[in-house]
Amino acid sequence: MTDQVDLRACSVADAAIVEALEVQCFADAWKAASVRNEVAVEHGRAWLAICAGEPVGYLLAWLVGDEAQINRVGVVPLWRGRGLGQALVRNCLAMVAEQGARSALLEVHAGNGAALVLYRRCGFVQIGRRKAYYPDGGDALVLRIALRPEEPVVDSTT
Ligand SMILES: CC(C)(COP(=O)(O)OP(=O)(O)OC[C@H]1O[C@@H](n2cnc3c(N)ncnc32)[C@H](O)[C@@H]1OP(=O)(O)O)[C@@H](O)C(=O)NCCC(=O)NCCS
Repeated sequence: MTDQVDLRACSVADAAIVEALEVQCFADAWKAASVRNEVAVEHGRAWLAICAGEPVGYLLAWLVGDEAQINRVGVVPLWRGRGLGQALVRNCLAMVAEQGARSALLEVHAGNGAALVLYRRCGFVQIGRRKAYYPDGGDALVLRIALRPEEPVVDSTT
């Protein structure tokens, strides 16, 4: 893990920054307006990773009732493989757990190996699969993590 990372809450004022990061992370990059909507809603939770003074990663999530959902995580290519993805996900899980989340969910493309390693490292397990969910025909895997000991989850792949 790099020792220069600073994670800070992301606000609507950061939408253009997130848009610039999205372009480097996703083929279907969200525009600033979409990011703004995502962050502005009452249940929106978002963070930026700052390294050497530059925004290099971000995470967008929701917290609805006692369930969180991670919607986007991205780290710019130059900064990948240094633990920033894990730092962003673990920070999000800790923050939403503090705010009452009992579990967190996300969907990930079955072919996204890097993201799958990241999420499994953080403790997510697969609970479902949505066939041909993405425009390229790829399946979505539904992953979940229990944030309280009384919330057991059985990995549907085992
Ligand atoms: C997925 C993503 C956020 C990971 O960010 P990152 O900062 O590189 O992740 P980390 O450095 O914290 O790595 C987490 C784990 O994944 C592993 N990993 C990272 N990239 C990998 C790759 N391409 N292939 C296999 N494993 C990989 C790391 O080795 C690490 O495992 P370890 O703890 O055993 O070493 C980044 O690759 C990315 O932005 N991808 C494009 C956007 C995306 O697909 N987001 C996720 C879907 S919403």
